[in-house]
Amino acid sequence: MTIVDLVRLFAEPLSTAIVMTDIDLERPGPTILYTNPAFARMSGYAAAEMLGASPRLLQGPGTSMQQTRMIARKLRAEGRFHGVLQNYRSSGEAYLCEIDVRPILDGGGKPLAFLAFEREVVRRRGRPSRDPHGRYRPIVPETFDVGGMCGAPALFA
Ligand SMILES: Cc1cc2nc3c(=O)[nH]c(=O)nc-3n(C[C@H](O)[C@H](O)[C@H](O)COP(=O)(O)O)c2cc1C
Repeated sequence: MTIVDLVRLFAEPLSTAIVMTDIDLERPGPTILYTNPAFARMSGYAAAEMLGASPRLLQGPGTSMQQTRMIARKLRAEGRFHGVLQNYRSSGEAYLCEIDVRPILDGGGKPLAFLAFEREVVRRRGRPSRDPHGRYRPIVPETFDVGGMCGAPALFA
């Protein structure tokens, strides 16, 4: 089983969008190895459209170059980045996206891949919302496979 297979098993049922890339930060990298269904629902891009592309595909006219330079700097220096960016859906619509990029390290601390947890932000400032989802737009599953979940061994019972 490859690391992509493992991440797929973990990320496929999540309602948080996941983007996995290789560790090559030189243009045209990083290259996308996997995106989950929640990412497709948020961005409008099917996994097949993203595979082999760079996350720069999500950038557009309103994306701040200062921000993207900051991502590159942070990823090179610390191997991680956490911030809010302006991304664009496949329809061209802009959305604010909180992005937390972390490396997956092997036992010796060598980076194997980057994993980004991405959530659309609908409310950045002000009083906390009464909405239970707070400042994030929930990504609603198309179908929720309760049967599958219940059929799984009760590891955490
Ligand atoms: C896992 C991962 C996910 C990323 N997701 C986004 C994203 O959603 N939007 C974005 O603008 N950049 C994203 N990036 C950053 C770009 O891929 C790129 O690193 C950034 O534009 C800085 O490089 P550049 O200055 O060469 O463009 C992501 C990077 C990684 C490693």
